[in-house]
Amino acid sequence: MADIELIITNATIATASDTLPNTDIAISHGKIFLLGQNLPALFPTAPTLSADGAYVLPGGVDSHVHLQQDNSPTGDTWETGTRSAIAGGTTTVLAFASQKRTDESLFPVVEEYHRRARGNAHCDYGFHLILSNPTPHILENELPILVKEEGISSVKLYMTYQPMRLRDSELLDVMGTTRSLGMTTMIHAENADMIDWMTRRLEARGHVQPYAHALARPNIAEDEATYRALSLAQLADVPILIVHMSSAVAAGHVRRAQTKLLPVHAETCPHYLFFTAEKLRGEGFSGAMCVCSPALRESAMDLDAMWDGLVNGTFTTFSSDHAPAKYDHPLGKKKGTETFTQIPNGLPGLETRMPSLFCAGVLTGRLSVQKFVELTASNPAKLYGLSDTKGTIAPGYDADLVIWYPTPEQAEAFAEKTGKTTGSKGMTPFKLSNAMLHHDIDYTPFEGMEFTNWPRYTILRGKVVYDRDGAGVVGVRGDGGYLKRGRSTLSRPRGVFVNEFDPYAT
Ligand code: URP
Ligand code: ZN
Ligand code: ZN
Repeated sequence: MADIELIITNATIATASDTLPNTDIAISHGKIFLLGQNLPALFPTAPTLSADGAYVLPGGVDSHVHLQQDNSPTGDTWETGTRSAIAGGTTTVLAFASQKRTDESLFPVVEEYHRRARGNAHCDYGFHLILSNPTPHILENELPILVKEEGISSVKLYMTYQPMRLRDSELLDVMGTTRSLGMTTMIHAENADMIDWMTRRLEARGHVQPYAHALARPNIAEDEATYRALSLAQLADVPILIVHMSSAVAAGHVRRAQTKLLPVHAETCPHYLFFTAEKLRGEGFSGAMCVCSPALRESAMDLDAMWDGLVNGTFTTFSSDHAPAKYDHPLGKKKGTETFTQIPNGLPGLETRMPSLFCAGVLTGRLSVQKFVELTASNPAKLYGLSDTKGTIAPGYDADLVIWYPTPEQAEAFAEKTGKTTGSKGMTPFKLSNAMLHHDIDYTPFEGMEFTNWPRYTILRGKVVYDRDGAGVVGVRGDGGYLKRGRSTLSRPRGVFVNEFDPYAT
């Protein structure tokens, strides 16, 4: 008889394809063992946890997270960032091991990020590489080893930020290598020269306040770079993902490329659904709290386009781009009091990613629960080579689960079915304050936002690590393990070139 360590009863399971009402989930050795009805009768000695009719969804996979990078000395550590992940229903993070321009080898970089993360993570984790100095030696000799031995199957390339930006020819060279190694290529698409040109003129005329950040990075800089990235990827015949998209026009470029069947993916983030650049005009210097790149957009039409892109499939993943810096700290956002160019870019959002989309998307009817699962868990798992262990609820998968509070309808149906009134009655809507969060950042852009639901329990490989009505975070640092990843199961090169010449033929 199987060794069952936990049975979750009365779940409304949703996956990216289906909803299964009144289902029990038996967990053995950290994996989902069995889905069925009345499982406690089969395993009478196993401990149980009732979901009270509420949604039980796959634990979130946040595939765009910055933790403890050298360029963010006041951001979250691996401990505090992953602690906030599990308190927001995320059980896997993919964060960055970031190469500096002066680094001639990736091996010490990866080893250093392992040192930072090892034993400190509350959730499972993997690394993407940021390539800032993609020398031929690194491309030919190091990347193949990192893919094979470290299971690092993705890179992020920057088209902007002087210390990291790559020229088009460098982007193409990297794409040629990632294509042959089956790596997923993430691209930060903004036109660096447009931004620098605008920045110089803004500063020269004394426009140094946080709002000038949005003026310096207009939509057109993202639109142009997105189109260029898509063109480069088409030339190189390589699957790409454009990260943190914010512009309607740029999303249109992606959509058209997808319609032509190019293997193109895209990601958007919570802040591009909820906030406009008006946030940068906050009182005094407070607008700095919302300085991120691409910048928050001036028009609500862009926000609507991001929502549309989630629903219509333009976006493959919904990630936090958690890249925080403390506000009230001389090395944090306040570094930029003299001029906006010194404000560290990025927002905190790891803990609020899942609940914000669940409440404003699923519970309002704007997004199906299946689409929510696809965007927040299943697709990132597939795109980044975790599709055999993470991102869905099925026998053999890691038992990474989020139990939400029953909606009023689910609570009523559960009470009717069981005749019990003892189950959870759902949750009382509340206004978020930063003190409720588990990151180590002194603000949240979501301050004051109303939430109608939140993860009630987060379960990592069968272990309850977050119990909102109990002791909160009940997992410990070190619960999370390193994930060696394989190749994307969502897309691959097509072997189709822009003309008769195959640039890879030997
Ligand atoms: O503003 C942002 N997003 N900063 C983090 C770095 C990046 O480009 O993702
Ligand atoms: Zn970026
Ligand atoms: Zn980022």
